[in-house]
Amino acid sequence: MNLQNELLSVIKDVPDFPKKGVIFKDINPLFKDPQLMKKVTAQMAEFAKLTNIQHIVGIESRGFFFGMPLALELNLPFIAARKKGKLPGEVVSESYALEYGTDSIEIQKNSLLKGQRYLIVDDIIATGGTANAAAKIIQNSGGIVSGFTFLIELTFLNGCETLLKTTPHVQIQSL
Ligand code: PRP
Ligand code: MG
Repeated sequence: MNLQNELLSVIKDVPDFPKKGVIFKDINPLFKDPQLMKKVTAQMAEFAKLTNIQHIVGIESRGFFFGMPLALELNLPFIAARKKGKLPGEVVSESYALEYGTDSIEIQKNSLLKGQRYLIVDDIIATGGTANAAAKIIQNSGGIVSGFTFLIELTFLNGCETLLKTTPHVQIQSL
């Protein structure tokens, strides 16, 4: 079985979670299969090497599950993009739209280095709002977003189009 089919066989659709009308992708079974997690990390690492990145940015919270092992595999620094109010010191924030209202994510200012190349990692891209906010933080601070990698892409929501508006020539991987 190829990796995509292996992932499709373990990731479960959960209807009406966390609320009615939403089909939730439960990725927890994947975490119980270390061999499969290693394959996921290896595929992301292969992509990361093509984009020549220098820093891995994981988005709280499910992006941490993939970003940290990837950073260790590549021997690169890991940076946490956290939800509002969780990081000490000076931070750079960016808000993004939710179904109702807005939320924001933050990165510590001392992690944002001009001219350095960053890869943004998350479990899933839906509307693209969250990953796009992370990209804006990096770009507005003088960093270069060289790539995004996601386990899952909900293609019908066209999230990648949003990313390409902010970072036109960026490479995007979804497994
Ligand atoms: C989910 C998911 C992505 C984001 C995708 O995170 O893990 O980060 O939403 O949606 P978007 O592309 O429309 O922005 P969530 O905010 O539910 O939090 P969690 O990762 O802490 O579970
Ligand atoms: Mg998330």
